Amino acid sequence: MRSKINIAIDGHSSCGKGTLAKQLAEKLDYTFIDSGSMYRAVALYFLENQINCANETQVHSALSEIRLEFQKNQTTQRFEIFLNGKSVENRIRQMDVAAIVSEVAALSVVRKEMVRIQQELGADKGVVMDGRDIGTVVFPDAELKIFMTADVKVRAERRHKELVASGSDATLEEVTNNLTTRDRIDSNREDSPLTFTDAYRLLDNSHLSPNEQLEIALDWVHEASINDRIS
Ligand code: CDP
Repeated sequence: MRSKINIAIDGHSSCGKGTLAKQLAEKLDYTFIDSGSMYRAVALYFLENQINCANETQVHSALSEIRLEFQKNQTTQRFEIFLNGKSVENRIRQMDVAAIVSEVAALSVVRKEMVRIQQELGADKGVVMDGRDIGTVVFPDAELKIFMTADVKVRAERRHKELVASGSDATLEEVTNNLTTRDRIDSNREDSPLTFTDAYRLLDNSHLSPNEQLEIALDWVHEASINDRIS
């Protein structure tokens, strides 16, 4: 049997990292972990409890109150995130959370705790994790690292469509502004910024269908698995 590897998928906001990660996990029978959902769940807690990111005492005590878990949904067979015992998988996708998540994710105390949990989840390999710092900080030894991007217009249209389908009345302009603001904060923060390096395979999916992107990524998985056995 082929030994399992870890796959890190990083990249810009809303470019389909999660879609590719889910596709790969299903195809390879790996575990998909959406690291962004953890930062979004923390941001939701901050929102609901009026935690001020600039207030260190508040942030510390909030973190000690937050319990995050992933549980498999028996119908969809996918992992859903629970915040203090409650599924928040859908709630965290809304615009009010998106509006503050990058500010929350820029806090080193928050990142330290999330990275610790993520590293535990990937310790036995066979994980596909998507985010911003997975290939650089969480799994620097991941056998395959993919950096995804797409034209901002395409990304905003895709995310807007998803939000509208979930009942949101967010406008395309609001979604576009949110994506560009998050990209700016995520790429310029001091702690673990989103950074493209030579270690990544670059995947621009502006003009690719989900099946086309999966085919490309599966070829890379194949190569990475072969290299892993040789080294
Ligand atoms: O799916 P989308 O691209 O909209 O974002 P996400 O993956 O759900 O991540 C939401 C936010 O969490 C990002 O904009 C980052 O600010 C933060 N994040 C991070 O800092 N590090 C990660 N590994 C994952 C997400």
